[in-house]
Amino acid sequence: MADIDTVLIEKRRFKPPAIFSKKARIGSLAEYRKLYAKAEKNPDKFWAERAAELRWTKKWKKVLDWSGAPFAKWFTGGQLNASDCCLDRHVETWRKNKAAIVWEGEPGDARVLTYGDLHRETCKFANVLKGLGVKKGDRVTIYMPLVPELAIAMLACARIGAAHSVIFGGFTSQSIADRVEDAESRVLITADGGWRRGGIVPLKANVDDALTKTQRVEKVVVFRRTAHDVPMKQGRDFWWHELMQDASPDCPAEPLDSEHMLYILYTSGTTGKPKGVVHTTGGYMTWAHATTEWVFDLREEDTFWCTADIGWVTGHTYVVYGPLSNGATVVMYEGAPNFPGNDRFWSIVEKYRVSILYTAPTAIRAFMKWGDEWPAKHDLSSLRLLGTVGEPINPEAWMWYQRMIGGGRCPIVDTWWQTETGAILVTPLPGATPTKPGSATLPLPGIFPEILDSTGKPCKPDQGGLLTISRPWPSMLRTVYRDPERYKTQYWSRFPGKYFTGDGARFDRDGYLWIMGRVDDVIKVAGHRLGTAEVESSLVSHPKVAEAAVVGKPDELKGEAICAFVTLRSGQPKSDELRRELQEHVAKTMGSFAKPEQVRFTDSLPKTRSGKIMRRLLRKIATGDETLGDTTTLEDLSVLAKLREDEE
Ligand code: PRX
Repeated sequence: MADIDTVLIEKRRFKPPAIFSKKARIGSLAEYRKLYAKAEKNPDKFWAERAAELRWTKKWKKVLDWSGAPFAKWFTGGQLNASDCCLDRHVETWRKNKAAIVWEGEPGDARVLTYGDLHRETCKFANVLKGLGVKKGDRVTIYMPLVPELAIAMLACARIGAAHSVIFGGFTSQSIADRVEDAESRVLITADGGWRRGGIVPLKANVDDALTKTQRVEKVVVFRRTAHDVPMKQGRDFWWHELMQDASPDCPAEPLDSEHMLYILYTSGTTGKPKGVVHTTGGYMTWAHATTEWVFDLREEDTFWCTADIGWVTGHTYVVYGPLSNGATVVMYEGAPNFPGNDRFWSIVEKYRVSILYTAPTAIRAFMKWGDEWPAKHDLSSLRLLGTVGEPINPEAWMWYQRMIGGGRCPIVDTWWQTETGAILVTPLPGATPTKPGSATLPLPGIFPEILDSTGKPCKPDQGGLLTISRPWPSMLRTVYRDPERYKTQYWSRFPGKYFTGDGARFDRDGYLWIMGRVDDVIKVAGHRLGTAEVESSLVSHPKVAEAAVVGKPDELKGEAICAFVTLRSGQPKSDELRRELQEHVAKTMGSFAKPEQVRFTDSLPKTRSGKIMRRLLRKIATGDETLGDTTTLEDLSVLAKLREDEE
C-alpha cells in the first residue's frame, strides 16, 4: 500500500493577506517555526502552557505518562470538568449574556442561547440525568437532531462525569442497537423527530425499533421537536420538558481526573464491529481549546459556524467543546443545505453575519454543482476565514470556495485530522502559512508526522507513503472502548512506537503535506466514513442475499459512491426490482447515506486463498479499469472473467 504515485502537481500559491497577518495570533511563518521548534525541544513545557489555558480545579503533577505506551496518560494528578470549562468559566464574567448558540431550525424557527441560558439548562438537565439514576462513569447514548438540546445533553453528561456516546441522526435502528449494546447504555436521549428537507426524520420510531433489538436501555428521554404523534412507553419514556419543569438549576460541576472518559464516538473500521473511540477530559479539552483559537484565529466578536453534524467528531470538537471553551458564539443549523432553496447556507451566513465558516469538501462540490447564482444572491462580506475538513479537497473546489464564497479575501484552512486524533493536527495557520490548493500544509506545533514506506523508512519528498505520527499528543484517542487489543493492533502495530493514521500521504519539497486517501477499505461517502463491513453486513441481513462486498468508486459530488457486488442465495432470480429492494434495505437498516448507488449481481466473489475478498480488484471493476494488477493470489481466476461478463 505504500509508495503511492503522485499525479497531482499544483503550482498555485496564496499568501496570507497582510491585514490578516497583522492581527493574527501567529502572524508569520517565522513565528510558527519558532513555536514548532520550541515544542520539539521541550514538549512538556509546550503542552503545559496549552493546558494552563483551561480551568483546573487541581493542577496536574505530570504532563505525560507514556510508561504504559501506547496507552497514554496526560496531565496526571490534575482535575477539571469540561462543562465547567465551557460554561461556568464564562458565566462568571461579562460573557454571561453573550450569545453562545445561535440556532436555526430547518423550518426557519430560530433561538439564541446565551452562556447564562446554556449554563442553566445544562445544570437542570444534569439534575434530570441524576434523577434517572445516571452516575459518574456511566455511558449515556444521545441520538438527536441538531438542536441546542443536543449540546445541553452532552454538557450535562460531562458535568456529572458520565460519558456520552452521540449517534449521528442519519443512522437507523440496527446501528443504534449495536452502539447501545457496546457502550452498555442504560439511558438514551432522543427527540420525537428532526426536520430534514421538509420531512420528519423519525428518530423516536428508530429508537423504538432499536430497543426491540437490545434490552439494555431502561430510560428514554424524548425532546419534543417536531411535535408529531409518537408512542411513549409507560415507565420507560419521559418527555424532556416534563422532566425539566421541576429540575433544580443548581448542579456544581464534578471535579474529574484528567484521564476521566469524556466520550465514546463510534467510527467505522474494516471489520463489522464499529470502533468506540475513547476520548478523555484533560488532554482532549486542551487541544480542542488551543486548536480552535489558533487555527481559526478566534476573536471575541466572531460568529463561528462549523456546519458539521454533532454526531461526527468535527461537531464534538468544533461546534461544542472547542468554541464553547473559548467563549465563542457558534451558529447551529438543523437541516439540509438545499432547503428550501440551494442558497440556505448563504442566507444563514448573511442573516447572522457569520465570520468564520468551516465545512466539508463534499458540501463545496455540491454548491459548485448547483451554480454560482446561489451564493451570488447573498452578501457574504462578513466572512473573514474559511475552513474545510473531512476529505482531500480537490484544487478546483478550493479555488471555487476561495473565489465565490471567500470573495478572494479570506484565507482557507484545509484541516487534516481524524476521529481518533480528537482535534486538528495538520493545517495552515491563517495569518502565517502560505497555502497551496489541495494541501493541508504543515503540522501544528507539537505534532510530528512522518511518512514511511512499507519497510518503515521515511519517504523522500514527493514520494507517497503511509502517514504516521511519531510522538503522542494530548487529544489522541486513549483506546477502543472495551477492546484495548484492537487499539494496539489497529494503530500501533504497523510501525512500533508510531501512531498509524491509515492514510496515504506525501510531503512536497516545501514540507507541505498532501493527503492521498485511505489505504484501507473504508469508503468516504459525502464526508461519512463507512466501513465496508457494516454495509456488507446490512446487505447480507437481507434474506435473499448470500454474500456481499462493497467498494467505493469516485463520485464527483459525494467523493465516493458505494458499489455493491452481491451474490444471491441459490434459486433467487436477479431482477431490477430486487436491486432496488436491496438499496432500500441498506437505507433502512443503516441510513440513506449508506445506500449503494450500484448493486451488481455476481455468482461468486474474487477471494484470496485465505478467503479474504479482494476488494482491490472489485474497485477496479467498479471503476472500469482494464489493468487489474497482480492477481497471483486469486483463488479462482475465472471468477474475474465472470464478474466482467456480469457487468451491466
Ligand atoms: O482520510 C482522512 C480524511 O478523513 C479521515 C478521518 O475521518 P473521520 O475520522 O471521519 O474524521 C473526519 C473529521 C476530522 C482521515 O483519515 N480527512 C480528514 N480531513 C482531511 C482528510 N483528508 C484530506 N484532507 C483533509 N483535510
